Amino acid sequence: MPKPDKKVIDRIQELKEQISYHNYLYYVLDSPEISDVEYDRLFDELLELEKKYPELITPDSPTQRVGATPLEEFKTVRHSLPMLSLNKSTSEPEFLDFHRRVLELSGVEEKKIKYTVEPKFDGLAIELVYRKGIFSIGSTRGDGVVGEDVTQNLKTIKTIPLKLLGKTLPELLEVRGEVIINKDDFEKLNKQREKMGEPLFANPRNAAAGSVRQLDPKITSSRPLNMFVYGTGRVEGKSLSNHWDSIHYLKELGFKLSQWVELCDNVDQVKSYYDKLLKLRSALPYEIDGMVIKVNEFVLQEKLGELSRSPRWAVAWKFPAQQENTKIKDIIVSVGRTGALTPVAILEPVRVGGVEVSRATLHNEDEVKKKDVRIGDTVVIQRAGDVIPEVVSVVSSKRTGKERKFLMPDKCPVCGSKVERPEGEAIHRCTGIACPAQIKENLAHFVSKGAMDMDGLGYKFLEQMVDKKIIQDQADLYFLKKEDMMKMDRMGDKLAENLLNAIDKSRNPSLINLIYALGIRNVGYHLAGVLAKNFKSIDNLAKQTVDDLTQVYEIGPIVAQSIYNFFHNPKNLKVLEKLKKGGVKFPVEKAKIKETPLSGKTFVLTGGLDSFTREEATKIIEEMGGRISSSVSKKTDFVVVGKYPGSKYDDALRLGIKTMNEEEFKKMTGK
Ligand code: IVH
Repeated sequence: MPKPDKKVIDRIQELKEQISYHNYLYYVLDSPEISDVEYDRLFDELLELEKKYPELITPDSPTQRVGATPLEEFKTVRHSLPMLSLNKSTSEPEFLDFHRRVLELSGVEEKKIKYTVEPKFDGLAIELVYRKGIFSIGSTRGDGVVGEDVTQNLKTIKTIPLKLLGKTLPELLEVRGEVIINKDDFEKLNKQREKMGEPLFANPRNAAAGSVRQLDPKITSSRPLNMFVYGTGRVEGKSLSNHWDSIHYLKELGFKLSQWVELCDNVDQVKSYYDKLLKLRSALPYEIDGMVIKVNEFVLQEKLGELSRSPRWAVAWKFPAQQENTKIKDIIVSVGRTGALTPVAILEPVRVGGVEVSRATLHNEDEVKKKDVRIGDTVVIQRAGDVIPEVVSVVSSKRTGKERKFLMPDKCPVCGSKVERPEGEAIHRCTGIACPAQIKENLAHFVSKGAMDMDGLGYKFLEQMVDKKIIQDQADLYFLKKEDMMKMDRMGDKLAENLLNAIDKSRNPSLINLIYALGIRNVGYHLAGVLAKNFKSIDNLAKQTVDDLTQVYEIGPIVAQSIYNFFHNPKNLKVLEKLKKGGVKFPVEKAKIKETPLSGKTFVLTGGLDSFTREEATKIIEEMGGRISSSVSKKTDFVVVGKYPGSKYDDALRLGIKTMNEEEFKKMTGK
């Protein structure tokens, strides 16, 4: 292999810098200085040199955006500071309530409060970690505490710098923002998918999220993704005192910041910004679903603190949902995983906020009656962010008299079993324990990501398996043989083997995935984690009474009852037994940590410790059975006070919470 001389090394360095710079001009600033041909020439020269001297390839080289091979699965990443969500307000009075609380709790004069206002992007929240200016890890928000490592995929997004611009770079920088896809790119992508017979994305947000969570970075790189920054996580080696400066600092480092961020001196300016942004909404190339208002000064943010999972210093003022008129062609009933019957309006397709809608939920019978929705009616349809489109109201002036009333069926449209409406509930349910609709939905949940994660077992496949009576419940999947597979349409040797492999690979789930997979009503992924952590095994979980369950922080009586019911239903117990027989390992996590002086106590850390980093201290506390909270409240047991403590120390004194210094903390933990 040829040895590079200094000239080559310098040229490579120069090319990397030039390409990154032109990349930045083109993607971030939208104002290129050179032609595509010139850009390609630089890029090809770099490729050529790197091919000759592969030892000179560095991870921040622009050629490394799509170099990686597909992953088997995503690793998880723990955010060093939790990624919080936002409280919502939907009207001016609600926003003013927020403002009043800010005034009250911060105790400062109204004219001292400034707000940064920003669009609320409708995409996927992510965090990027830069060490000494080089992009090192990128992750999704996940549940706010733990996300997925999607570094390879984020590297393919051109608005994400691989190396920060500027001479003096922070030792560590965590950047937060939203990955989005433009409305017109979303349309193009869906048209392409339609042509290829692939399932369509429901909206740009799903398209962005689906593209980032791809195991093969080549697929991500083919999607026109963009990233807007809206804040920082941990920062070391740069001091910042307010939000406005920090997002503009990010801009200087090469990130894309929305051109619509503004700093407001008073609430009137915030209100005018809302009006302006609402008018601008449809003209923006990407979807936004409101604005975000943030108290600007970091000292005030600290003082206001946060409440469970959202800060008291910020609020999302959401825009009203987008509405359109269309006609109801029919009303059908769909049967869900829990047997719930939902009336669904089949519509003449209509575009609502850039997305085609052909179905809308009518929720339940009472809703249909209350709104007096009939087949043939012209109705107002609304789409609001996440939610499935819904029918808001009937345009009664369009009634012709030919409309037909909808009747809730008394037999399940899928299995013919009796339909019941339990007392005090609004929902009708199918009583058939072997209802194929319920089985199919349960199976689809069971095999999905985060549950047993059986790659390749799509809904169509499961549907056929149930219709052909090859499987009747989740456990039957583990008894499938190749002959059974070959009974499916369009099945080949290779595919059958792959599917059997995917099933086999799922026999060793984590406890959290297994609990989630069971599909216990009201238990989503987050709660599955809470249950796994507290009860350590399925067998132990199954033994708990409703009272025991409600002892767990985060578990209320309704969830506790549904967990209890699940494990006292003989049908479910049979499935659990069968799963074990089918070779599924039921993990048993290490026994509960023995009682320590920290067990069950809530800690808040403030200031720097000499012997531990904040993460290390957190880990020690959690491992010894304690809990960490980011703000001081009456429920806090101890505040550990290090060097240069922040306002949390004052809060502790004010509320009379016990404080301890580093020495005392070491003594308590025996470290
Ligand atoms: S700030 C503590 N700013 O909204 C503040 N979030 O409900 C946390 N989002 O997960 C976030 N645009 O995905 C912030 N300009 C913006 C945003 C924004 C969109 C999303 C973000 C987050 C969710 C919070």
